[in-house]
Amino acid sequence: MGEHSRRVCVTGAGGFVASWLIKLLLPDAYHVHGTLRNPEDDKNAHLKKLDNSPEKLKLFKADLLDFDSILAAIKGCEGVFHVASPVPPSSVLNPEVEVVEPALKGTLNVLKACSEAQVKRVVIVSSVAAIAMKPDWPKDQVMDETCWSDTEYCKKNNHWYCFSKTVAEAEALEYAKKNGLDVVTLCPTLVLGPMLQHTTNSSSLALVKLLKEGYEVLENNIREIVDVRDVAEALKLLYKKPEAEGRYVCTAHMVESRDLVEILREIYPNYNYPKSFKEGAEISKVSSEKLQRLGWKYRPLKETLVDSVESYKRAAHLDS
Ligand SMILES: NC(=O)c1ccc[n+]([C@@H]2O[C@H](COP(=O)([O-])OP(=O)(O)OC[C@H]3O[C@@H](n4cnc5c(N)ncnc54)[C@H](OP(=O)(O)O)[C@@H]3O)[C@@H](O)[C@H]2O)c1
Repeated sequence: MGEHSRRVCVTGAGGFVASWLIKLLLPDAYHVHGTLRNPEDDKNAHLKKLDNSPEKLKLFKADLLDFDSILAAIKGCEGVFHVASPVPPSSVLNPEVEVVEPALKGTLNVLKACSEAQVKRVVIVSSVAAIAMKPDWPKDQVMDETCWSDTEYCKKNNHWYCFSKTVAEAEALEYAKKNGLDVVTLCPTLVLGPMLQHTTNSSSLALVKLLKEGYEVLENNIREIVDVRDVAEALKLLYKKPEAEGRYVCTAHMVESRDLVEILREIYPNYNYPKSFKEGAEISKVSSEKLQRLGWKYRPLKETLVDSVESYKRAAHLDS
């Protein structure tokens, strides 16, 4: 494959997942076009320090809602990883504008630009949020790629992030079918692991809070966790394997919050952990069998947790 054919675009390059994906692509003979809303922002400085970055990473100023800016970044690329999407840490004032529109219209802008630029494959980061928000699914039945979140339920209960990911993924697959574009989607569960960027993203913040917030009572919810480095590997795998098609769940470990705290406490006894737990909601297991059949592997939970905490320590996120 020539140099040109290995040129790929990664949207939202400075984010938690995208930064790891770019770190993985650069040493592997890929040239990367990364899109950023503000390339000058100090929060994206880490990208310039990645190995091979000066020669192989080109940054483009682009907003998902500005078609021309997206097209400029995608032109000349053989493949596109659409990673950018708003991931709000909590509720937002105007969900339609802040979450739904960038996710849905943003994804369609990326796909239209891919058609125009004759991109060969698009890998989209969706989420378990597009799978699991389905209250009538039997709790003892495993969820897989056939399961879609209930958009009416999401809307009624203000689960706007879940709504945005569900409609964006469904529309993307529909667009692919109608327009003959090769689109594959990955649906990760809660992504943890070391951060390359120095600002905290929403999922890392959940673990930071578990370590330092000192909750009086926390719901003992079940968390389905996957390492950011394994997510990046999965995205690369979906790009490289010609037989990859449709959706792929990406998850590794299922653990109750209480047990998660116990694992952490054993290694790091001195943080301000939750003081007690109350009954959490029951959830169905989600399965990554389809992704594993493609050759995907994941690392042990302890490794993810230790590397996460060490990265938070380096960035002073655990200082009180
Ligand atoms: N972390 C998880 O647990 C998890 C789980 C499942 C799926 N995902 C998915 O993984 C992807 C990456 O998430 P992340 O965890 O890496 O979060 P993140 O660090 O917050 O990254 C999100 C990225 O999206 C970009 N973005 C948001 N709105 C945009 C817009 N209008 N135009 C251009 N870029 C925009 C952000 O750019 P700015 O920096 O300019 O805001 C940021 O780079 C998302 O699609 C998310 O839904 C994440």
